[in-house]
Amino acid sequence: MVKIRSSEITPEHIYLSRRKFMQGIGAVAAGSVLAACGVQAPPGGISNNPSGAADTPHTAEPGPTEAASDELGDSLTTYEAVTGYNNFYEFSIDKQAVAKLAEGFQTSPWTIEVGGLVNNPKTFGIEDLLGRFTQEERIYRMRCVEGWSMLIPWLGFPLAGLLKEVEPTSKAKYVRFETLYDPARLPGQTSAWYEWPYVEGLRLDEAMLDLTILSTGLYGKELLPQNGAPLRLVVPWKYGLKSIKSIVKIDLVEEMPTSLWMAAAPHEYGFYANVNPQVPHPRWSQSTERRIGEFGRRETLMFNGYVDEVAHLYAGMDLAKNY
Ligand code: MTE
Repeated sequence: MVKIRSSEITPEHIYLSRRKFMQGIGAVAAGSVLAACGVQAPPGGISNNPSGAADTPHTAEPGPTEAASDELGDSLTTYEAVTGYNNFYEFSIDKQAVAKLAEGFQTSPWTIEVGGLVNNPKTFGIEDLLGRFTQEERIYRMRCVEGWSMLIPWLGFPLAGLLKEVEPTSKAKYVRFETLYDPARLPGQTSAWYEWPYVEGLRLDEAMLDLTILSTGLYGKELLPQNGAPLRLVVPWKYGLKSIKSIVKIDLVEEMPTSLWMAAAPHEYGFYANVNPQVPHPRWSQSTERRIGEFGRRETLMFNGYVDEVAHLYAGMDLAKNY
């Protein structure tokens, strides 16, 4: 497998490296109830321990070192934190319990059905996607709506490539994503608080942007169940809740999809969920955030720091109304 050295990483742009990665061979082989990313105390034991990635028992090959940084000069969040502090309500609303509960979650065989308003509907096995699309590394900030953030080296490929294969028709305006629905394997789905399965959506132009990826791994390793294995969305200028995990269905649709969070708390969560420090959540400010592994808070950046790439998508829109 290709190893990525931090010295190979260019800090100039949104992602630090773009390379052929395992091409063709598949990846390495109410209160808190109504808070997307339910508000919790910051994780006690999680720090920027530079040996975190190497220590993990999941290590097949090391990915970038935690000394790597993004184009703003910030260090990666440790592998330990990225894989040990998770929001995945299908397993638990306790972030630090998710990893353990998700252990052994079967992600093979796994198919993703892509259809709706397309000329060429297709069902892909996860290994088809890994073989067909070059896996690239993208280092992105992830800002949870709740006020914490991470810097994560994802592996994945642009969603646009997959959508082009199925050929959306001219009627298609939005993309709707669905997580696996299987309460026997995802016990949180027995909770009556939410309308399962987890659903998310993007406008078609948002989905086609190169920044939007489907991720199959992180830190140079296969994605773990707690992070949404085997396939999850990553939309770095939007709050983390948009980055739907363990996807089994992608549909091109005409009407704006209703996400799980829009259905659960329509007065709190809108369709767009763009990171915006000027638009507070009804119950808390969004002007600052805590980067996991750091003390204190930092300013939240408009569109999570991706203004140049995405601002044109929202020209003329009132972002306080379209939240
Ligand atoms: N996808 C599903 N299916 N279920 C979830 O509970 N939580 C979302 C998002 N995707 C969630 C999900 C939220 S609120 C966040 S912040 C991110 O996943 C967290 O991703 P991570 O655990 O990999 O950091």
